[in-house]
Amino acid sequence: MSLLIRNARILTLAAGSRPRRGKEMGELGIIPAGDVLVVDGKIAAVGPKVEAPAEATVIEAQGRVLMPGFIDCHTHACWAGDRLREWEQKLNGVPYLDILKAGGGIHATVTAVREATKKQLAAGLKARLDQMLQDGTTTVEIKSGYGLTTEAELKMLRAIVRAGTEWPGTIVPTALLGHAFEGDLDEYARMVVKEMLPEVSKEFPDITVDAFVEKGAWSVEACVRFFEKAAKHHALRVHADQFNSLGMIPEAIRLHARSIDHLEASTKGDLIALAKSPTMGVILPCTGFHTDQRYAKGGFFVDQGGALALATNCNPGSSPTHSIPFAIQLAVRFCGLNPAEAITAVTVNAASVLGLKDRGTIEPGQRADLLLLRHKDERQLAYELGGNPVATVICAGQVIGANSAPT
Ligand code: NIG
Repeated sequence: MSLLIRNARILTLAAGSRPRRGKEMGELGIIPAGDVLVVDGKIAAVGPKVEAPAEATVIEAQGRVLMPGFIDCHTHACWAGDRLREWEQKLNGVPYLDILKAGGGIHATVTAVREATKKQLAAGLKARLDQMLQDGTTTVEIKSGYGLTTEAELKMLRAIVRAGTEWPGTIVPTALLGHAFEGDLDEYARMVVKEMLPEVSKEFPDITVDAFVEKGAWSVEACVRFFEKAAKHHALRVHADQFNSLGMIPEAIRLHARSIDHLEASTKGDLIALAKSPTMGVILPCTGFHTDQRYAKGGFFVDQGGALALATNCNPGSSPTHSIPFAIQLAVRFCGLNPAEAITAVTVNAASVLGLKDRGTIEPGQRADLLLLRHKDERQLAYELGGNPVATVICAGQVIGANSAPT
């Protein structure tokens, strides 16, 4: 099956499948007017003029932007229940960490997730995945972390995999085994290392593991002990410096974590150390927007030569959105990124965070996850607020939906 997208402004981001850092994050590899040929779900040819088989379906781009599908590399999109009561508390000035300390927040979602069946969790997630796809997300990472028992964490991971089998895009599950704790942290962390991690490793040998290091969540010491065991078999990611800078950044760099996510409270010194390391930074501005108007210094990190990704952090507590365009709009307004850097951060760099080399750029051989925007200028993605900038989503070569006419 062949598909030709003709006369598009193509953001190829082509320079191989490797994370872009520093200044190169602003280079989108633009072909101002060109064609892309897709054959059997993969990109077959890209250039100013591409020959296509006579039977190819043709999409006339009319000069609009064609770019790689969005890759949302940090979400907690598998949950049950809601957090509306807590949100009202927050509106009345109660901080996120106080709600967590009082047994709400993440723990409220843990209760709801434990009560839900795998089928119910998968159905709720699938509905969110469908919305994501309409808004251009073709690959999404989804964390467990609302189970807090071996059985409930495995139920979440199985639900995530199940929802993914019913969705045309790609899901990447992550085992967030250090999200919160019950009882004594040291005892809980020992249980995670001794019991939960081996069970998860057995069923999901290639999965990445994650933890949330914060006051009221995991300590640096507990996380390091957990990561030292987990690193033997798994890639590592960590939530660090969301509210407090506790010293996790140097430890995560030392342990060769794949990414450090959040960074709202990071010191400049830690951001410089991270920028100079192979570990990537991930910023989540929808969280600051929803919780307390604090944002990571993404532009500073990029200026220091860092490799940065950007994600929604879709979850019911700190970031109730699945929209990558919204994350871009906030990153440009509040984190110091320019539109091109934000686009790199949700495509090729987000693919690198997930260890995926077959997407995030428009080059022959890559998976044909493509977005045709409504716009002829990619800066509109960051400029326009709200609405859906995506006209057509193509997922593994399959045309998913056409939302609206060009602007
Ligand atoms: O990244 N901070 C920890 N985890 C999520 C929030 C999860 C929740 O509040 O349910 C986050 O913001």
